[in-house]
Amino acid sequence: MELDGTMKQAVVGWDLSRVVFRDLERDYPVVERGEGIYLYDTKGRKYIDGSGGSSVVTSIGHGNKRVAGAMAEQAGTIAFSPAHCFANKPHIELCNMIAAIAPPGMQHSFLLSGGSEATENAMKFARQYEYERNNRGKFTIIGRWQGFHGNTFGSMTASGITYRRRYYGPMMGHAVKIPPCYCYRCDFGLTYGQCNLECARALRKAIRQEGSENVLAFIAEPVVGAALGAVPAVPEYFPLIRAICDEQDVLFIADEVMTGFGRTGANFGVDHWRVVPDIIATAKGISGGYTPLAAVILRDKIMDVLREKHSNFRGGHTYCANPLSARVGIEVLSIIHEQKLIDNSRRMGERLLGGLRTLLEHPTVGDVRGKGLMAGVEFVRNKQTKAPFPVEYKFGKRLFEEAFARGLVVFAGSGTVDGVEGDHILLAPPFIINETQVDDLVRILSEAIGAVERGLPSDLRG
Ligand SMILES: Cc1ncc(COP(=O)(O)O)c(C=O)c1O
Repeated sequence: MELDGTMKQAVVGWDLSRVVFRDLERDYPVVERGEGIYLYDTKGRKYIDGSGGSSVVTSIGHGNKRVAGAMAEQAGTIAFSPAHCFANKPHIELCNMIAAIAPPGMQHSFLLSGGSEATENAMKFARQYEYERNNRGKFTIIGRWQGFHGNTFGSMTASGITYRRRYYGPMMGHAVKIPPCYCYRCDFGLTYGQCNLECARALRKAIRQEGSENVLAFIAEPVVGAALGAVPAVPEYFPLIRAICDEQDVLFIADEVMTGFGRTGANFGVDHWRVVPDIIATAKGISGGYTPLAAVILRDKIMDVLREKHSNFRGGHTYCANPLSARVGIEVLSIIHEQKLIDNSRRMGERLLGGLRTLLEHPTVGDVRGKGLMAGVEFVRNKQTKAPFPVEYKFGKRLFEEAFARGLVVFAGSGTVDGVEGDHILLAPPFIINETQVDDLVRILSEAIGAVERGLPSDLRG
């Protein structure tokens, strides 16, 4: 097609006002290229990708030529295949690779494009499984407050993100929430070690209140990412959750969209707790951001029932089992394993957490937590009372901009305390990061925090 002058100008023009950005008040610089842990914009500025792309995606780093080469080769061979009538080689190979690293008894994968698709389809698999077992009353999902499972209506329903519920709540379905396992601000006012794990036991209570015959599944992130800032559950939490789900005949869906494929220093987050969920929803790190890719990993018992009942899966999307994305997944997982990047994630994660703990000297740094290369810092106005900054002060956003201006990308979140108040940042650099780069990241972050603290109005200091 020949573009006429106006159209061509529109296509090649640089008018940013025609682009819908999520933040309507921000001037976005234009990113030009990425290399390793660094991003470069069109003005030649260099940034450390401290949050793994937007949020916990870029596992193997940017600009990997091996992945680029595999993509070109795959695109020139078969980039998209009609999934309703063909299997394709990368699809089959990737499902086998996932089976090799998945928790025991989880040998079946369904490939999709993104995290929300993964959690949404995980819930659909759960429902179809229970439907075929004649448990047709089971539909309620139990999630956790400050849990995030995606932005489609089904995944939002399972999430506990207050500010989104304000807007879209009336359009969401029925779901129940229990408090997260978040010792810094325990919902029960208890201290770990003397708490009887009330946050996990709340699941049993919620199931009984709803009636287990109505409860389909419990969904949780092993390390709560976007909404809490890298809060791992305590060691006894997931074993108790697993036991309660078994006792109450409720499925356990692990949302490993952020934590999957080495991010926390293990193949999957749940591996740290030695717990096998019924379904894993995962995405992000599996392609390291090179293409959209996600997976739902199913326990064998689920596939056994679907096969026995000849129950074809009713979910799915156009880009399921996409050969180009699957090929990327194969390369990324191969690189992670050949280069022992999970070990690096664990080692560098320890260094990062150690470095971040030094930031506790700042008057506004209330808590530092994380697992592997997924770390969080929570900010408070007063360390003794743990009082947060007023919402309208937008502490997290200010810190994000100060860090960005100094060449560090972090992911800022709010609503840490109760879905409304509270500020944190999430840090999740690529697994290839080295010691010097970790130290640089911490140094820049410390400078950015100092800058925000110097700008605090007197009534918000301590
Ligand atoms: C734990 C978790 N689940 C689901 C999602 C949704 O993934 P996506 O944004 O790819 O739809 C996210 C995104 O950040 C996530 O962190």
